[in-house]
Amino acid sequence: MSELSIYDLPPVYDVIMGPGPCEPFYREQARRSGGPILELACGTGRLTIPVAEERDDVTGLDISPSMLASARGKANEAGVSIQFVKGDMRSFSFERRFGMVFVSCNSLAHLLRAEDMQSCLRAIRTHLLPEGIFVFDIVNPDIVTLGRSFADPVEQDCEMSADEGGGEDLTIRERLTYDPVAQIRTAHWRLLRAGHPDRDLSPLHLRQIFPQELPMLLNAAGLRLDERFGDFEGGRFTAESANQVCVARPV
Ligand SMILES: C[S@@+](CC[C@H](N)C(=O)[O-])C[C@H]1O[C@@H](n2cnc3c(N)ncnc32)[C@H](O)[C@@H]1O
Repeated sequence: MSELSIYDLPPVYDVIMGPGPCEPFYREQARRSGGPILELACGTGRLTIPVAEERDDVTGLDISPSMLASARGKANEAGVSIQFVKGDMRSFSFERRFGMVFVSCNSLAHLLRAEDMQSCLRAIRTHLLPEGIFVFDIVNPDIVTLGRSFADPVEQDCEMSADEGGGEDLTIRERLTYDPVAQIRTAHWRLLRAGHPDRDLSPLHLRQIFPQELPMLLNAAGLRLDERFGDFEGGRFTAESANQVCVARPV
């Protein structure tokens, strides 16, 4: 089995994710918040850097040295000052509190066990100013695909196109499985790139957080779900929404 994760390949990650509609959403939330800003699981700085273009008090934390190295390089190129820290969002400690803590792009789903999620949410609560906000987006579990991938692995090709910023087009051949007891969806990815040998990546395990359990997880950590949108434009959250885009506050 490959030990190479998608997070060991930051340029490939950046092609897969692209800028996306989450950027204006997180920028706007940051404008509204008072006090320093902390992004957990900041990755290659895809959102940390745009947010820091308007602020000088932004910190990004991630567990992956290669994602952080990429983020530091991109921030230097952009001429923005960000404190990047290697750390684990399940147990982190800063001496100050923040006006906004954010976790984008379904990154909370990396916390597979209930105790991981609770320790992360408690640490967030501890680091928020009294008027601070916790902003995050997670997937709205797609029960049709999850049901199909429980019965049999679901296989599909996803073609990713690099934009004018350079880079290359690539295809991800994906095999999905789902464990309904653990609520964990696993993606097995094979990377197909012109001019490169095909490469299997290590499985990506993502915890599915269902709509009714989310407020309870937050409450147990001293947080209250204040708003939940179905997209990054502030649309209503419905059964069809691909994401749960949320703002929570200290209780
Ligand atoms: C889907 S990426 C999101 C990156 C970035 N927030 C974005 O929107 O592009 C998930 C990130 O979570 C990081 N990560 C996974 N588990 C983590 C943990 N326990 N603590 C901190 N970072 C973690 C990975 O290294 C990766 O950079």
